[in-house]
Amino acid sequence: MTDKHPDIIPATPAGLARAGEALRKGDLVAFPTETVYGLGGDATDDRAVAAIFAAKGRPQFNPLIAHVPDLESAEAIAVLDERAVELAHQFWPGPLTLVLPRRAEAGLSLLVSAGLDSVAVRVPAHPVAQALLKAAGKPIAAPSANRSGAVSPTAPHHVIESLGDRVSMVVAGGKCQVGVESTVLDLTGETPVLLRPGAVLREEIERLIGPIQLSAGNPDAPKSPGQLESHYAPNVPVRLNATSAEEDEAFLTFGPDRFIRGGKARLNLSLQGDLNEAAANLFAHLRALDQEGARAIAVMPIPDEGLGVAINDRLRRAAAPRSQKTGTQGGGPARQNNRR
Ligand code: TXA
Ligand code: MG
Repeated sequence: MTDKHPDIIPATPAGLARAGEALRKGDLVAFPTETVYGLGGDATDDRAVAAIFAAKGRPQFNPLIAHVPDLESAEAIAVLDERAVELAHQFWPGPLTLVLPRRAEAGLSLLVSAGLDSVAVRVPAHPVAQALLKAAGKPIAAPSANRSGAVSPTAPHHVIESLGDRVSMVVAGGKCQVGVESTVLDLTGETPVLLRPGAVLREEIERLIGPIQLSAGNPDAPKSPGQLESHYAPNVPVRLNATSAEEDEAFLTFGPDRFIRGGKARLNLSLQGDLNEAAANLFAHLRALDQEGARAIAVMPIPDEGLGVAINDRLRRAAAPRSQKTGTQGGGPARQNNRR
């Protein structure tokens, strides 16, 4: 690591052209989506995809999502059955990722699928992501733009804090609206399986295509990195369902908290108790509290409904015991950074 920082470039036509060019020549470009910032690389270029794994420090068995601008480009890389097309019409562009049989002839790097014969496909709604995908003219592999296991980035400076010069540029696009990663639904089998909860809710999916299964989530053989038990983790321990905080803890609250005790530092996910607002704030607040020098982060209970299901999924993993294997001390260069 050097002190060199990647450029944050504006999402102007010139900026997007430059970022598209960089992607086409195999460089890594971080970009905003409506969920979190992605670390993008050309999904047809083995070298670029390998560079993503290296930059993230990610275990190699985790496959990546291929991002495309529309249904037509999705059909060029994967086989969409009736269920997939119905879901695509309803939720694309948007925060739903479909795991589908991959088309061998599409030229995707085998690394993208980490050896599986499926591929995860996502059509992001963020206008900057849309413009960049069109400028690149190729499917773009993009995990969240952070070191593996660490908190996902929802603003450009988070990317730089986590990845430093492991990324060549960050396309600016403000704060992410959704704030937690896309829902991941596996459609390769007869019964659809929810691999990761997200902003597209289980009930919304079931209304269209009938019952889906919840993933068994075997943490030793994760199909989804989000299924690793310890993931999304700040540097300090996380304590869930806290109704008060100790004086040496940082406190992440939800809803009216005036009469709740404790915490050397405090941030509220949503004073109004709005779960969408809470999801949008989740990762940024975890990062900020992580830098308060507290012994731990205490987190108030979050209702397990709507986007609360995805929030609680991420919080459980942030609080999970950390093993060597999952390499959770993902702060990386964040520690040397004195922003905020
Ligand atoms: O919101 C998002 O999805 C963000 C933005 C950048 O688009 N991306 C993201 O990517 O969260 P990543 O790599 O952090 O998560 C991809 C998820 C993982 O849980 C991965 O295991 C799963 O999708 N996945 C990818 N390909 C798969 C496949 N072929 N089979 C099963 N799961 C797959
Ligand atoms: Mg991630």
